Amino acid sequence: MTYEQGLELLKSFPKKPGDDWDRHCILVGEIAFRLARALGAYMPIDAGKVRLMGLVHDFGRSVSHCPYRHSYEGHKLLMKLGEAELARICTCHSNGTYKPQDLEEYGLKPEDFYVRTMEEKLIFISDNLECHGDIVRQEVRLSETIARYEKRNPEFVPVLKSKLEEFKAFDKEIRDISSRSVYEILGI
Ligand SMILES: [Fe+2]
Repeated sequence: MTYEQGLELLKSFPKKPGDDWDRHCILVGEIAFRLARALGAYMPIDAGKVRLMGLVHDFGRSVSHCPYRHSYEGHKLLMKLGEAELARICTCHSNGTYKPQDLEEYGLKPEDFYVRTMEEKLIFISDNLECHGDIVRQEVRLSETIARYEKRNPEFVPVLKSKLEEFKAFDKEIRDISSRSVYEILGI
């Protein structure tokens, strides 16, 4: 799938009034692309692929906005299209976010839900920084997300809080490679 094909697919999904998850997909791709370009000076990384991974990571939101199910559905959708590598980013982008009882129905394994490569970590990071069209620091994005989930899925709030430490660990990896934090690279 090319980036342009991914964008066409995103545009083809039905949207409800007020939906901005399509813009979120595009911006996560753009943030991840900027980070990948910065890291590209220090390590081999395919920034174009990272941009596409960011674009598709939430395609499952065309089926469900459930914090768990959207990742399973995104995986299913991209597997149907023969895009196994892109399917993986749908399940792993929230790093460790799944319910064991759901795995069998979707034919997924626990390891499908953990980021492994720097490319995948960049999508996790970028997803944590995009907030309704802006690039913000993780704590700002997280407090907005927590406020949203406190009403809808309160059981998901501890999962969200665990993302603070994971973000810090990945940011440290990036600092060790490039001598700059994610915030310094993005100028926020
Ligand atoms: Fe996302």
